[in-house]
Order: sequence, then structure tokens, then C-alpha cells
Amino acid sequence: MTMPDAGDRGPAPANPGVIASAEDPVNPLRDPRDRRIPRVAGPCVLVMFGVTGDLARKKLMPALYDLANRGLLPPGFSLVGFARRDWEHEDFAQITYEAVKEHARTPFRETVWQQLSEGMRFVPGEFDDDAAFDRLAETVRELDRDRGTGGNYAFYLSIPPRSFPVVVQQLKRSGLSDPYAGGPESTGAGTGRVPWRRVVIEKPFGRDLESARELNDIVDAVFPAHAVFRIDHYLGKETVQNILALRFANSLYEPIWNRSYVDHVQITMSEDIGIGGRAGYYDGIGAARDVIQNHLLQLLALTAMEEPVSFAADSLRQEKEKVLSAVRLPADLATATARGQYSAGWQGGRQVLGYLEEEGIPQDSRTETYAAVRLSVDTRRWGGVPFYLRTGKRLTRRMTEIALMFQRAPHLPFAATDTKELGQNALVIRVQPDEGVTVRFGSKVPGSAMEVRDVNMDFAYGESFTESSPEAYERLILDVLIGDPPLFPRQEEVELSWRILDPIERFWAENTKPEQYAAGSPGPASADALMARDGRAWRRL
Ligand code: BG6
Repeated sequence: MTMPDAGDRGPAPANPGVIASAEDPVNPLRDPRDRRIPRVAGPCVLVMFGVTGDLARKKLMPALYDLANRGLLPPGFSLVGFARRDWEHEDFAQITYEAVKEHARTPFRETVWQQLSEGMRFVPGEFDDDAAFDRLAETVRELDRDRGTGGNYAFYLSIPPRSFPVVVQQLKRSGLSDPYAGGPESTGAGTGRVPWRRVVIEKPFGRDLESARELNDIVDAVFPAHAVFRIDHYLGKETVQNILALRFANSLYEPIWNRSYVDHVQITMSEDIGIGGRAGYYDGIGAARDVIQNHLLQLLALTAMEEPVSFAADSLRQEKEKVLSAVRLPADLATATARGQYSAGWQGGRQVLGYLEEEGIPQDSRTETYAAVRLSVDTRRWGGVPFYLRTGKRLTRRMTEIALMFQRAPHLPFAATDTKELGQNALVIRVQPDEGVTVRFGSKVPGSAMEVRDVNMDFAYGESFTESSPEAYERLILDVLIGDPPLFPRQEEVELSWRILDPIERFWAENTKPEQYAAGSPGPASADALMARDGRAWRRL
């Protein structure tokens, strides 16, 4: 799936056959619109705040190595870590090495590692320490001089949102956010190029509409909107991008992708893990804020949106925003939502603790680890079609999917007993694991009777493609370094999503306590009751 963003990359040359000036070399044999040739990041520095966190160790550092291993980072690429640790450059490189060895997707190659590690620097300091940020500024300018990084900096804020104000202000005070500050190597003086500055922020983008706006104001005061990259890692997943290919590159599905054929849609993100060591983040946030506000509503938007004019960032985001603004809550939140909290149980042959017994969780916590909700999308395409969203931790198994459940045939000219095993036709996008697409329909059982039973037709990535899918973070980090914004939600999307969730959260806070469900089970009984009231059932986990 390619998503060129015409806006950010400038128009294609007016005269593609003519060699451009030496300052702006253009390969005359290459069509700038053809993105099958790998996109490689230009010279730059990635400055990472929060390098000691889990995300950095398990996802970000390995993704950088994988990008380097795939030849998608420039030779001078440099990584600067900033943290409150008494580390030398070598210590940081060692930590990164261990993270890469343990979590990288692609095979370890010493030469790639050597090249990557030559560009690694560490700056120790507190976020409120002016001198530390001045040292950081000096460090990146040295990299510009020594490694030709050209004053192009991406700042990755893998830190709790409460630290955003101080870090963003420090970036401003030290001149790091300003592409015109710095020496000649850092400002592109004499080259006619203005270097770029970008900031990457990770969810949670606030805990409600109001705090999301406050957070945005803080970032917005220092970085222009086009320089802010909000990461929702679900959008970096191949299978999620494939929703767009499936819908808009084919003619097969579009005619039935609407209320005339679809009975309802189920979007499920089920996890087998508990909260692990994330009590500090998770408690008080809960399942709905953690993943419905972002991942699940993004999946809903991609499933329900109209065809964008192009895959340029603005067009794509506009269509998603239209759908999000058409989402309506059910009139009765008590019967159309469900929330649960896992209790002790058996998971994958292991006995596991309940949420309230996890380290750092208060005994009286009302935080939900399971959430389900029925939404509707008030558009001509989807009027009357419920969208059921559910997510939970410590459920039967790990699985994310989007299932379009089709209406039953208006008439079945078979004996009732012959169609007892016939369910609803379904089109299921398997986001993970076992990535692919399933179409379920009825088929005659071989034999002399006209018995009809459900069968599946399957597309599996692993069988159709030889290369394995990149990790979401590989794709997203590369897009940041290239400056390609379509896969990053903008503030409007974040706000629209909070508008959907806020009333539900308020209702829950005032009225309900999460219902207990045993770890390893498919979730609380109230979630099944929600579906049963509508005459439907969840797909099996
Ligand atoms: C994160 C949530 O955004 O997504 C976690 O904060 C969750 O709670 C994770 O475990 C799941 O990601 P994935 O890619 O494993 O589905």
C-alpha cells in the first residue's frame, strides 16, 4: 500500500525528462510517483526521550535496527538518547544492542550494527535542566558537522504526557525546535535547503477531550501542525492498511459494503496478556481509553469511511473525520455498553492473578480491563447498522479482527433441517495474528441431501507473499523520517474520538462498577447480554 503525500513532498517535476540542477538532483529514469522502489530516509538525527522505557526497548530500537538492516536509513543516520541516567555513549549503545538482539525482526548483522552504533550518542539529564538541553543541542550540531545530518531532527517523546510541557519548552528554549537556529551545517546555510524539525508523540493523547486539547496546545505552541506526528501504531500494521486496499482496489466488495447487505460489524481486539508492569499507566485509564479511543475507532473509521479522493494525508484524514463525526452513541448506555475486570483464572495452562491482585493496583480500583460498546454511524451507507466494538485483557486468546456480518438470505428454499448449520455470511479481516482475510459462506455438504453448512475461503499473508510484514513501528518511524503523514491521525481525529468516548466514560464513572470475568474467559456476561438483547452473538474468541 503506498500513500504518497503530494502536499509534503512537493509536486512532481514539471519536466520529468530534464535533469535538474546540481542542488536538486533528480534521477531522470525514475518516476517520482512510483513508490515500489524503497523509500529511504534522508540525513537526520532521531532524538529519543524515554529511552529507558519498555516501548523504546521492545519496539523503537529494534525497529530502527530493522530499518537500517533493510537499507532504509542513510549512512549518517544518528540516534541520540536523552534520559536521567548516568550513562556514557557506550552504555547507551550497549542497551540498544541488547534490545536489538532480543527484539529485532530481521537477522542480526554485525556490519549493520557497527554502522548504526557509530551514530549513537547519549545525553544525561533531567527534563528541567537547561544545561542538559544545551548539551543536547551541542550534541546534535556536532552530528551535523561530523556525520552530515543536515540539521534535520525528529524528537520522539516516548514519555508520560505530564512531561510534555517541560520537554517541549526546553526544545524551544534551547533553539532545538527552530530550523533556523544553529551553525551553517545545521541550518543548511548556502545550500538553499531549510532543515526540518518534527516531533513524534505517543498515545495517550489526553484522557478526555479537555486534556487532549490542553496537550495539543502545549505541542502546538512550539511545533507547526505539519511537524507533529501522532503515533497510533495500529495504523502502521500492514493488515490495517490493507483495509484500504481491499475496499478501494477491488470492485468485488464495494457493492455490498453497506446497509443493504451488512447486518452488523464486529470489531474485536482481544489480548491474552494482563497489564504486566504497567499499573501506573493503566489504572484509572482502562481499556476504553487505552485502545477504543484510538486503535478501535481508527479501525471503525477505515472500515466505514467513503473512498478518499486520493491517499494524500488530507484526503484520507478528511474521510476518517467525516465518519467519526457521524458516529452516534446508543440512547441507553446501560444496555449498550459493558465493562469488566479480570479476576484470577487460568490462562494458557498457567494460573494468573486477577487485576486487583496485580502489583500497584489499589484494592478498590474500578478500572475496566474489558469494554464493549454498540455504536452507530449515521450516514446513508450505514444507517441502522450497529458497529459493536470490544476489547479486553486476559481473554481467551490474542486476536484482532474486523468482521462484516451479512444479512441472511431473504428466503431459503431448503428444508429447515438442511440449513441448521448455516450461519451468517461474513467477511473477516484478520488483523493479527494469522494475518489475512476470510470469507464465510454456505456450501452444500457432499451427499444425497441438500444440507448446507458454513465454509471458509481464506487468504493468508504467509501463503501469498514471501516477505514478512514489517513491524508497525518500522513503517511509522520511516514515515516520520521521510515526512510522510497519511498514517498519523491529526488533532481533529483525536478530538472526535474523545467526543465519542467521553459520555461513555462519564456514564461508567457515575453508574457502574466493572463486572468480574475470569482470566482466560471470553469476557463478562454483560457483554454477551448486550448482544443477546439485539438478537446477535459475539464471534467466538
Ligand atoms: C497499546 C496498548 O496501544 O496496544 C496496550 O496501550 C496493548 O495496552 C497494545 O497491549 C497492543 O498492541 P498490539 O500491537 O500487540 O495489538
